[in-house]
Amino acid sequence: MLQGGNGERDSFSNKFGVLAALAGSAIGLGNIWRFPYVVGQNGGGAFLLIYVIFVAAIGIPVMMSEFVIGRSAQLNPVGAFKKIAPGTKWHLVGMLGVVSVFIIFAFYTVVAGWTLEYVVQSIRWILNPEKFGFASMDNAALTQFFSNHYESFTSGLWRPIIWFVVMMLLTGYIVISGVKNGIEKFSKILMPVFLVLLLILVLRSVTLEGGRQGLVFLFKPDFTHFKEAPFRIILEALGQAFFSLSIGMGTLITYGSYIRKKENLAGTAISVVVADTSVAIIAGLAIFPAVFAFGIDPGEGPELVYKTLPVIFQNMPGGLIWAFMFFLLLCFAAITSTISMLEVIVAYFSEQLNMSRKKATILSMISVGFLGILCTASSDVFGFFNASPDLMLPLGGFFIVVFIGWFFARDKSKKELSSEGSYKIRYHSLFMFLVKFVAPLAIAFLFALGVYSKVITLFPGLG
Ligand code: TRP
Repeated sequence: MLQGGNGERDSFSNKFGVLAALAGSAIGLGNIWRFPYVVGQNGGGAFLLIYVIFVAAIGIPVMMSEFVIGRSAQLNPVGAFKKIAPGTKWHLVGMLGVVSVFIIFAFYTVVAGWTLEYVVQSIRWILNPEKFGFASMDNAALTQFFSNHYESFTSGLWRPIIWFVVMMLLTGYIVISGVKNGIEKFSKILMPVFLVLLLILVLRSVTLEGGRQGLVFLFKPDFTHFKEAPFRIILEALGQAFFSLSIGMGTLITYGSYIRKKENLAGTAISVVVADTSVAIIAGLAIFPAVFAFGIDPGEGPELVYKTLPVIFQNMPGGLIWAFMFFLLLCFAAITSTISMLEVIVAYFSEQLNMSRKKATILSMISVGFLGILCTASSDVFGFFNASPDLMLPLGGFFIVVFIGWFFARDKSKKELSSEGSYKIRYHSLFMFLVKFVAPLAIAFLFALGVYSKVITLFPGLG
């Protein structure tokens, strides 16, 4: 994707390119699909509050640490640790990242494939509304219709596999052919359009009769649900924060290695975090009023938005034309995230194992392809993979902040964060305090309690 001529390492073209690529990686199904359903399963406002605290206090320092590692080493996660901590075991943290990428990439691309199913089906629905009887259906009947469609689609064998493979090929094609000319140019236009569409959706959703309750659910912290399983819920908030920000598995070490030396890393991290969190909350604003207005269960699970969104669209003038546009753009938002995952594996294969980019891409696609097909075939595998970010990403993030806090020279991180003195960084002591103490202790503590409570729910006998 980012290869320069003459074998020299390439970088993002300018400040806008950096932000577009990073926001592209961060904003995706994590915001639109995963965020609403984990908020829904975990009781709403209380979860959102914890989530936002984690994003700010832990997410920002982890993201900056990944940038520091990547930009100072100019390599993939494994090579980066080998270079800046030679002769140590730290490169295993990079390895952990590469392994996590395989798993996340696989189930993520499966869900991305669902968007294509909805794009194609919307065309059918738009062309034959009478056949499906949309005009005569009330919201309850519409909910039933889309819910049935989701069930029959995901339980089928071939269509989920076909859409998964199509998504995979699209991602591979873009990674091989270069992002600068393709995806960067596209994102500039399509991302803002997607945001406008999302805002229109919010307008429709909040003005639905009975929608107000959704706003209360999303914003009013009610800790009753939380008290039932506080540590599991806290760990899920942490996992979702890492997932949504694309941190904890070296994606941003890899992207960090493409950021030019003069760019301001802290400013970049903050912009990405603010953008990503805003989009997640906007998605929540679009979903929850509708969920309550249509009487859908907010704790429905991974199918939540796929059952809710089409009903909102049917309640808009123009009907499913909106659904068609929305799912198409969502597919695009997903691709800017999948390429950031594939890029990690490709950078690893090509830099550590000396493969050509093309060979590395094809090999990664074939191996992830197997895992993905397993995910489409078995809802247990899918569920297991989908739960894994909650554990793997905080673990990766823990080692990353410990490394920067305790094993990376203070003046080196200062040099990197200030771009060799071009920026005044009065916050450096605060940053060091966060990465030395706050973030590692918080992650370790929450991780231990969360794992304990997950184990207890799985094997009640142990409690
Ligand atoms: N953050 C992306 C989303 O919200 C998904 C993603 C891309 C990701 N790269 C990642 C998640 C790396 C974890 C780690 O859709």
